Amino acid sequence: MASVMSKGWALALAVGIGAAVAAGGAVAHDDKMPANASPATKAAYARHANFEKMGGAFKALNDELKKGEPSKTVVATNAKTIATLAGALPSWFPRGSGVEARAMSEAKPDIWRDAAGFSTAASNLQAQATKLNQLAAAGDIGGVKGQVRNTGMACKGCHDKYRVEKKD
Ligand code: HEC
Repeated sequence: MASVMSKGWALALAVGIGAAVAAGGAVAHDDKMPANASPATKAAYARHANFEKMGGAFKALNDELKKGEPSKTVVATNAKTIATLAGALPSWFPRGSGVEARAMSEAKPDIWRDAAGFSTAASNLQAQATKLNQLAAAGDIGGVKGQVRNTGMACKGCHDKYRVEKKD
């Protein structure tokens, strides 16, 4: 399997973003926010949109790295998007913004029950994405290729613990 799939794409699949992004976001859980939504419901929908942006940037970065001569600009732009979103991630989870706020949410209650563990997972992504962004800004494609893996593992580490299986 590894031989027919590039490392980057295999990793994207492992992170669980492949299918949703490949379908252009037109998946069943792409539901609409109801009118007069509460602040918690608005936060849940905004989070969904932010994660789709993050998944899109991660996939675009992996796709670019598969090319013979990756564009440093495309790599840097997507790495910057990931790092910026990673910095904001902790603010996307106000208490009460789980499934109680949006039925299709994949956020586990453990996010708020185990706030310290969740915060560690978020900090880990921030650290990895900051490194990724620095390497990309410096045009170090080889370095980015290594660091994209560490970044993907930080995504996966949090998803394994704090995100429920896809609700399609
Ligand atoms: C600290 C925890 C954490 C980290 C780190 C994290 N995620 Fe997530 N991610 C979540 C949670 C929780 C959800 C479910 C949110 C919801 O449905 O309310 C999610 C959902 C998603 C979704 C689905 C979007 C949706 O709402 O349907 C994508 C795509 C995604 N993440 C991509 C990524 C990528 C790419 C990375 C790494 C660059 C990453 N995530 C890192 C916790 C995290």
